[in-house]
Parts: sequence; structure tokens; C-alpha cells
Amino acid sequence: MDYNAALDQAIGKLHEEGRYRTFIDIERRKGSYPHATWTRPDGTESQITVWCGNDYLGMGQHPVVLAAMHEALDATGAGSGGTRNISGTTVYHKRLEAELADLHGKQSALVFSSAYIANDATLSTLRKLFPGLIIYSDTLNHASMIEGIKRGEGAKRIFRHNDVAHLRELLEADDPEAPKLIAFESIYSMDGDFGPIAEICDLADEFNALTYLDEVHAVGMYGPHGGGVAERDGLLDRIDIFNGTLGKAFGVFGGYIAASAKMCDAVRSYAPGFIFTTSLPPAVAAGAAASIAFLKTAEGQLLRDQQQLNARILKMRLRGLGMPIMDHGSHIVPVHVGNPVHCKALSDMLLADFGIYVQPINFPTVPRGTERLRFTPSPVHSPKEIDALVKAMDALWSMCKLNRSANVA
Ligand SMILES: Cc1ncc(COP(=O)(O)O)c(C=O)c1O
Repeated sequence: MDYNAALDQAIGKLHEEGRYRTFIDIERRKGSYPHATWTRPDGTESQITVWCGNDYLGMGQHPVVLAAMHEALDATGAGSGGTRNISGTTVYHKRLEAELADLHGKQSALVFSSAYIANDATLSTLRKLFPGLIIYSDTLNHASMIEGIKRGEGAKRIFRHNDVAHLRELLEADDPEAPKLIAFESIYSMDGDFGPIAEICDLADEFNALTYLDEVHAVGMYGPHGGGVAERDGLLDRIDIFNGTLGKAFGVFGGYIAASAKMCDAVRSYAPGFIFTTSLPPAVAAGAAASIAFLKTAEGQLLRDQQQLNARILKMRLRGLGMPIMDHGSHIVPVHVGNPVHCKALSDMLLADFGIYVQPINFPTVPRGTERLRFTPSPVHSPKEIDALVKAMDALWSMCKLNRSANVA
């Protein structure tokens, strides 16, 4: 085989389709998020405003988080030095898991290297724990769930996005005695829409299925203690396994599940993605625990309120200009473009001409024809920055003669 030719072909295909991904080189400035320094390919620098980060509340620069990280770093050094089983469990990991269990009203939690790994490792391990398990998965579930569900033996059923009638049909068609699990998300981050948690839990009760809820984009953001949409809606006890990240609203790094003590114990004991890998650095665990604890407080609620307010203001102003925003009432503000080349061009112009950084979202992250710009307002975006973004979008929409007609569902 001509390996280089195969690589050229694979990469060339992405260029042809206008969806070759480029990383831009940015350095966030602690204390002045959402500002960052952009280093162009020619080495020149300019100041930009980041509008597509998932550090939704700016916790990545919060003094409480940084103090906890400094303290742990100074106390213990850099890495954990081992897997959880072999010298990699510290007081910081234990504290973090206790915070997480409390956050979700569960007996236990288990921390992984990322939420991606937590999804992949847990879902694939559940197949081993419950032989013959049938997994029912929303068609828009994140890649990490899909990977975990695909691995191992056992059936999978894909239900149409948020379609509980379709889910019921699939459940009814299977053996009532077969073990079952329904995997879904509380917020689908590319559209910003919510999953029908209560209705899915009703079906799970009726068909004796376990529920697995990915709250990656909701933890820290919803509920009086930042426990996510299930906490906000009073549904914590109806979910068997929560999945969440420490890398978005909590502003640090890592992922986890929270569940019964028995469930966590079994996953801990059987999941290769948990067992055979170095545990989080203690400073990371300490920072994440401090962030979660802070976001449980009234001060944390103020950040959530400010974030929601900024999201509403941005949506209202873009809608006022006739921009095709996708508004499902969540904290995410996607603007539909519908063409990968236009989407990339708009993103490039926003960055080069206006100092506004928003990454184009193209296939396979979203279906072809639904390419979009996805804005993530935070409490650290000031009215001045919101104004600058709205004016830049207005100017580009006019210049490119883009659709101003309306809302996209
Ligand atoms: C729904 C969902 N689940 C899981 C993940 C993985 O999270 P992490 O970045 O912690 O790996 C993501 C990442 O964007 C996500 O959107």
C-alpha cells in the first residue's frame, strides 16, 4: 500500500468538502477572560474575544479554583504517579468524588480522565456486567456514548431524537425480560435543546430499564446547586447513572459518572478505561472539587443567572436583526448558516476583521446542511463585548447577503 497516497486522499477529501479543521493558536489571559491573544500563522499577535469556549462560567480563571490548584500543586507536586489502584488515589480524588456524589444525590461517583472516556468506558462495561443488555440510544447522542455502545456484544436500538413514541415502539418490540438501558443527554449542545428526561424515565420505569443521562453541558449550569437539568427538574432520583465533565462549566479537566455505590464499584472493578490509566493530577482534582463546591453556593447561582441573562440578551438582539438563531431556551446560542464553506468564511472574517473567535461547526459534528456558528455567552462577556459581536454579525450578514428571515427550530 502507498500509505502517503492514502493519507493525502483522506485529507484531500476534507479539503474538497470544505470541512478540513484548522486549530487556531490562542492563549487565554487569566483574569481577563474572555480575552485571549491570537498568534497568526505568520507569528503576529492580536487580541481577540473568545465566543465559543465551553468554560461557560469562566471558572477556569476563578480565584477559588486557582487557589485550590496552587495549594495541591505545592503540597503534592505535578502528577498522581499511578493508576487509581496503584498509588494514584489521593485525598484530592476522594474529595472530588464525594463532591460529585453529593452534587447528583447519589451514593458514589467515579472520576475518569474525561467525560469522553467516562461514557465510552462505562457504557462498554455495562454490556459485560449485564449480559444481553439492549441499549436504547438517542440518535444525536455524543460520539463518546456511541463508541461505548458499539463496543462489546449486545444489541443497540437508535431512537429518533427526543422521540419518546419511537422509543416506546422499540422497547415494546423487545423481550420484556431482557436487561435494558436508555442512554440520552439532558442538553444536546449543538442545537442547545433539552432531552425529555421525565418522559424517558417514565418509560424506563414501565419497561424496567436503567437510565443513563449525559449532563456534560448542564452540570454547573442548571439546578440550584449546579447539579444539572435533572436537579433543576427534581428528577435526580430517577436517573441511575449520571455522566458529567469537569472541563466545561467547572472550568478544569476530567470526567465522571455518579450512581449507586454498587454500580460505581462494579464499573470501577471492570472498566479498562478506568483501571489501566494514570489518575488525574491531584491539582486538577483539587481545582475541580473547589469549582463544584463553589457552584453549589449562592455565589455560584449568581454566575448561572448572569450567564442565562447574557444568553437571553444575545438571542434577543440577534433575533431582532432577523438572524436564524436556534433557540430552545438553553444557554447555547447557535446561528444557522447551512453551508460549510460559508460557515468557515464567516468564522474567518469574524476573527480577522473583528477580533471575534467562533469556530465553524461542520459535519460530522452536525448533519450536512445544518452548519452553524455556535456562540457560548458567559458571565464574563460584558455588554460591550455582546454589542461588538452583534454589530459584527449584522455587518457580515449584510455583506454576504445572508438569510435574515427567522428562527430555525
Ligand atoms: C455530550 C458530551 N458528552 C461528553 C463529552 C466529552 O467531554 P470531555 O470533554 O470531558 O471529554 C462531550 C464533549 O464535548 C459532550 O459534548
